[in-house]
Amino acid sequence: MQGDSKTIGVMIMSIRIGTPAKPDATRVMLLGSGELGREVVVELMRLGCEVIAVDRYDRAPAQQVAHRAFTVSMLDAEALRAVIKEVDPHFIVPEIEAIATEVLSEFEAAGVRVVPTARAAQLTMNREGIRQLAAEELQLKTSPYFFIESLAELKDAAAKLGFPLVLKPIMSSSGKGQSLVKSAADLEPAYQYALEGGRGKSGRMIAEGFIDFDYEITLLTVRHSNGTTYCEPIGHRQVRGDYHESWQPHGMSAAALKESQRIASAVTNALGGYGLFGVELFVKGDTVWFSEVSPRPHDTGMVTMISQNYSEFALHARALLGMPLPEIKLAAPSASYVILGEGHSQNLSYTGIEEALADPQVNIRLFSKPEIDGERRLGVVLATGSSTDEARARAKAAREKVSVLYGA
Ligand SMILES: Nc1ncnc2c1ncn2[C@@H]1O[C@H](COP(=O)(O)OP(=O)(O)OP(=O)(O)O)[C@@H](O)[C@H]1O
Ligand SMILES: [Mg+2]
Repeated sequence: MQGDSKTIGVMIMSIRIGTPAKPDATRVMLLGSGELGREVVVELMRLGCEVIAVDRYDRAPAQQVAHRAFTVSMLDAEALRAVIKEVDPHFIVPEIEAIATEVLSEFEAAGVRVVPTARAAQLTMNREGIRQLAAEELQLKTSPYFFIESLAELKDAAAKLGFPLVLKPIMSSSGKGQSLVKSAADLEPAYQYALEGGRGKSGRMIAEGFIDFDYEITLLTVRHSNGTTYCEPIGHRQVRGDYHESWQPHGMSAAALKESQRIASAVTNALGGYGLFGVELFVKGDTVWFSEVSPRPHDTGMVTMISQNYSEFALHARALLGMPLPEIKLAAPSASYVILGEGHSQNLSYTGIEEALADPQVNIRLFSKPEIDGERRLGVVLATGSSTDEARARAKAAREKVSVLYGA
């Protein structure tokens, strides 16, 4: 894998890892305990850390494998402050965007390591912060955009952007409240949809010009004690703003790859700290647009659980603890395909797994989510192949063998 790592030379580092539950334990607190967090917990435990997982509901995936778990609304500053004080962590690792980020800044100022930084969590919890940083401060190429707060402002923005345009609440993820607006007649319903789908009640939205890209990628970028390292580009397919499959590597021209790495390095350097970032980019020919960035492992990066010798979660754990990165090797062209459930149940079960695993190049992860009420990601199928096309076909075929049972 490529890197622009510069060795820090003879700097002597001394990282001490204690024993979980003992006075000198190295306590790492995860804020958000989903399926990505669960893998981070396992990797941190392998390195000897004591891991404390927080989420807003009981038995969240990462809570099930952590040393200790707390259930708290992370948007409630008072409650969040209290639980951090109780745990007294050395590291705070945000896994979600919806956090009272002012609390992170307070603890960072008091010496707790916020991963990658409290400022990164603050800027990326909201589309406005990161867009202004990327487009205005760093002068990176992005879609044209306007922030709007009313239907009248949306109409003005549409007059400048033209159609189609993409409307998103400034605070939302996984495509919630997001729509592609094809004509003036769609503006009002799209506005209502964004109002309902946004986190928080601000009513603020971003209207973006539509980028007619050839493909989009996630460039996993790791800032670590020896510099910056990039994983091979990950291609992915989104349905209504939500990821359904991803594959690695995604072929790119040398010029587009170089530009992608330049953008990734500019954004991650501006956010600072140590850890893995998922930089989302749109590509057309050799032209690259910055879309957004997660200062943490990315859902499309789940493919690295089969494609690389070290997954994005293992790399995040290594980097955030201040440890040097290992050599990253691509095992084979690979793909991931999500198991998206739809239904209502508090007693989910799964069948067909042995049929899915009959293909020796397939693996599976079930996330053990305690309930479903509508659509929810419940697992992921992973596959390798002689090409990414073959890996995608194997992953999809295996996914189709798995049935979700919505038990009473
Ligand atoms: N301006 C645009 N032009 C074309 N396609 C877009 C644009 N903005 C978003 N999309 C499409 O919608 C997808 C989701 O958008 P975006 O990443 O901004 O939303 P999100 O809700 O943060 O998603 P996630 O949390 O899953 O990353 C993109 O990956 C891309 O496929
Ligand atoms: Mg995205």
